[in-house]
Amino acid sequence: MQELHGGVRARSCSGVGLGLRAPHYAYVEEHRPEVPWFEVLVDNYIGKGGAALHHLETIRSDYPFRFHGVGMSLGSTDPLDMSYLAGLRALIDRFEPDTVSDHLCWTSVGGIHTHELLPLPCVEEAVAHVAARIDRVQDYLGRPILVENVSSYLTYRDDAFTEWEFLDAVAERADCGVLLDINNIQVSAHNHGFDAHAYLQGVDPKRVGEFHLAGYEDQGSYLLDTHGEPVHAPVWELYRAALRRFGAVPTLIEWDTNLPKFERLQEEADTARIIRAEELADAA
Ligand SMILES: [Fe+2]
Repeated sequence: MQELHGGVRARSCSGVGLGLRAPHYAYVEEHRPEVPWFEVLVDNYIGKGGAALHHLETIRSDYPFRFHGVGMSLGSTDPLDMSYLAGLRALIDRFEPDTVSDHLCWTSVGGIHTHELLPLPCVEEAVAHVAARIDRVQDYLGRPILVENVSSYLTYRDDAFTEWEFLDAVAERADCGVLLDINNIQVSAHNHGFDAHAYLQGVDPKRVGEFHLAGYEDQGSYLLDTHGEPVHAPVWELYRAALRRFGAVPTLIEWDTNLPKFERLQEEADTARIIRAEELADAA
């Protein structure tokens, strides 16, 4: 087990996990498939009761969880949503997830939620702003979090750093972990014309506690992060490079739209597992 800064112990869940989605509850409960862990999208459960939480309880009895969210709006200038964080903390107490993660982005302005994961300007002022908010979240939750790089379709005229320099500076300042979404790196590298491998080289290996893999759609002039396709070849290649740099980091297959049968998700995880084993064996 690797200990990250801020006391993040990120190796209790190892191997290749899957996102837990409602259409698969019945399959998972009936078949108890061989999956090392599930990632739970907390926004679907905060403040909820009834059947959804009952399914979580049932599945949690057999599988470790990681928590992932889209609602912290860590980069926003709006006040932190304390009712959201209180709901998250209650879920953490109840389900004891291995890790908790959200995105390095902003999603709300003036109290209006855009439901988009919007990139931050890569400037010192934004580093200080978002790191202070991550610090407050970590204090409130009583644990470190992982922050994830988002895919993006715009940059800011005032950007003073690369995205990976920004991510690394925020993680260092907030003393938090990093969730590296390999697909998001590939999408943004294509859209903005930067070197995806330089991105990997710019992130401190001590901080990386999880990888995400997903599928994008090629829109001709840009790539769109849809989570609705198999993982594409350039992302598998970048995943190999990430394994060589960062080692045996737990990996998640994200598939949210055009959700296939559970067995298809397992096939995708099997591919990741084979690649992981090859790269880690070569490294050893
Ligand atoms: Fe992701």
